[in-house]
Amino acid sequence: MRVLVPEILDHLAPDDPRALRSRRDLARINWVMCQAAIMANTLADFPAPKTIADIGGGDGRFLLSVARRLVKRWPGVKLVILDQQAIVSTETQSKFAALGWDCAAMQGDIFQTLPQIAPDIVTVNLFLHHLEDAALARLLALVARRAKGFAACEPRRSAFALLASHLVFALGANDVTRHDAVASVRAGFRDSELSHLWPQAGAWRLGEQAAFPFTHVFKAHAI
Ligand SMILES: C[S@@+](CC[C@H](N)C(=O)[O-])C[C@H]1O[C@@H](n2cnc3c(N)ncnc32)[C@H](O)[C@@H]1O
Repeated sequence: MRVLVPEILDHLAPDDPRALRSRRDLARINWVMCQAAIMANTLADFPAPKTIADIGGGDGRFLLSVARRLVKRWPGVKLVILDQQAIVSTETQSKFAALGWDCAAMQGDIFQTLPQIAPDIVTVNLFLHHLEDAALARLLALVARRAKGFAACEPRRSAFALLASHLVFALGANDVTRHDAVASVRAGFRDSELSHLWPQAGAWRLGEQAAFPFTHVFKAHAI
C-alpha cells in the first residue's frame, strides 16, 4: 500500500540553501535512475507535439535533458514548465532556445495552472507520488480533459528501490534529499495502480510497467 508523508523540499523556500542543494541532488538522482532516457523512450511512439506541459517540472532541467534526446524528431516545441515554485532560470530557458524549443514557466498549484492551458502532451517526472489517490484521480481526469497524450516516470514501490533510496547519502545527498528519497519510494507505484486511477470515459490506450532500475512508467494516448 502507498504511504504518503510530506516531502521536505515542497515546503522550503526556493532560495533556501537546503532546497538549492536538494535540487542539485535531484538532478543526480534523475541521472542515476536514467529518468530522462526512460521518459524519451516512453514518448518515442507519440505523434510529434506542438506543445508540451511538464507538471511539477521544478527548475526545468529534467525536461531539458529529455528535449536534447527528442529535438531531432520533435523540432520547435513550445514547452511550459508548471510548478508551485518559480525556479526556471533564464540560463535554462536559453538552453531550450538553443535547441529551438520555446520554454515558458507557470507558477502555482497544478490544479490552478493546468486548467488554463491545453497542451498536446503532458509529462511528469517524480511528482504524481506527492498526491493521495483521490487528488491523483482528480489530476489524471484533468490531464485527460486538457491533453491528447500523457507520460509519467515515477518512483517504483519495490524493495530494490527502497534499498537504493536509503543509499542516496553515497551520492553526497543532504538531509532533505535523504528524507524525500525514502518517502518517494514509499509513496510510489506498482502493478496497474495508475491505470486504475485514469478516468474510464474516453478512448485511451494505456501502458504501465516497470523500467529498470527504479522507475514506474505510465502512459496514455488518445485513440
Ligand atoms: C521531486 S520534485 C521533481 C521536479 C522535477 N520534475 C524533476 O524531476 O527535477 C517535485 C516538484 O513538484 C513541485 N510541486 C509539489 N506540489 C506541487 C503542486 N501542488 N503544484 C505544482 N507543483 C508542485 C515541487 O515544487 C517540485 O518542484
